[in-house]
Amino acid sequence: MSTFPDVQKVGYGLMSFTWIPSRKFTQEQFNETLKQVIDKSNATVEHPILLNGGEFYGVPERHENISLIGNFFKSYPDYADKVYLSVKGGIGPHWNPDTSVESFESCFAAINKYLQPLYEARTKKPKTLDVFTMSRVGKEPIEEVMQYLGRKRSEGVFSELCLSEVSAATLEKALAVTPISCIEMEFSLFDRYLADTGVFEVTRKHNIPIICYSPLGKGLLTGLKTSDLAKDDFRNHMDRFSDQETVNNNNKLVEEVHKISQKLNMQPSQLALSWITTLSNTEFNGVKYPKLIPIPGSANAARQIENISVVTLDKETLQEIADFLSTFKISGYRYNKAANATLDI
Ligand SMILES: NC(=O)c1ccc[n+]([C@@H]2O[C@H](COP(=O)([O-])OP(=O)(O)OC[C@H]3O[C@@H](n4cnc5c(N)ncnc54)[C@H](OP(=O)(O)O)[C@@H]3O)[C@@H](O)[C@H]2O)c1
Repeated sequence: MSTFPDVQKVGYGLMSFTWIPSRKFTQEQFNETLKQVIDKSNATVEHPILLNGGEFYGVPERHENISLIGNFFKSYPDYADKVYLSVKGGIGPHWNPDTSVESFESCFAAINKYLQPLYEARTKKPKTLDVFTMSRVGKEPIEEVMQYLGRKRSEGVFSELCLSEVSAATLEKALAVTPISCIEMEFSLFDRYLADTGVFEVTRKHNIPIICYSPLGKGLLTGLKTSDLAKDDFRNHMDRFSDQETVNNNNKLVEEVHKISQKLNMQPSQLALSWITTLSNTEFNGVKYPKLIPIPGSANAARQIENISVVTLDKETLQEIADFLSTFKISGYRYNKAANATLDI
């Protein structure tokens, strides 16, 4: 049984702030954006907002992301009990999955160092990381890795364990060793493959929510174009941004999302996110959905405030979207051929 708390419907992915070398944010800019979003989210101790960061989310300074997050709570200690923080780790120095004990130990040392201000500011919640997320399955046997991470949780290094990009079979193996509180997977109008992998069944059986990353198709569903990207943006290396035929095909979905959202008088991003939150914990057209919590990421406060303003879509709208999706096939890898070899293992 999952011990995941009753977080706000939409979380906040914080990768955007530190993932593109030429796009830098000061601590003050980060603080101002995060503060505004937490304020608008109505987060409370009982219903915190899920924040999503990464120990390795920094280029070129690996720890820039957790440094910004930790320092936020020096300026705003009152917000420490209103957030539920997940941090990913288990990635080596060359962005390779690394689930060795050495890799995790150095990751936890950095997390503990940079997140001290959060821990110190906490008065009503454990003074520790809420969720540690293993980013990718590595070459070490999953059972051994789960035993090790289960021990770290017992030692109080973090409260809950999450796995990212796991197959249904791996998740079952992990659950046989130790409790897993949630999983973090790519899920959006662009990428609905999870419905066919058995992952929904396993997560429903164990009452485990799915944290849906890249819920805006890495920006594409909002109308983002390849020409909008900075030269050093990693998305330039993804098929869905770099291959014109792929872009042309996928634009059909983007146009449909824009058409429906206009009709409903909302932003495309709101429609894309409301589609996920409306399907969360329901059955629609024969698919039983587990709890779904999208974590869109914008470094712009106004956009993220728009993202957290989801609505419940009516059955007609869900059906209109489903009818289009039944005629549409997404093109291109989720990342690219090489990176895809490390996904869904
Ligand atoms: N587990 C994993 O393997 C994994 C992988 C990738 C990401 N993640 C997590 O998931 C989070 C979100 O994923 P993501 O950043 O890949 O994709 P996303 O949330 O689908 O899209 C982010 C992009 O959309 C833009 N955007 C966001 N809201 C917008 C709005 N309302 N209007 C217009 N543009 C908007 C952002 O640009 P601006 O910043 O310029 O607004 C950014 O370019 C990340 O922050 C990270 O925490 C996890």
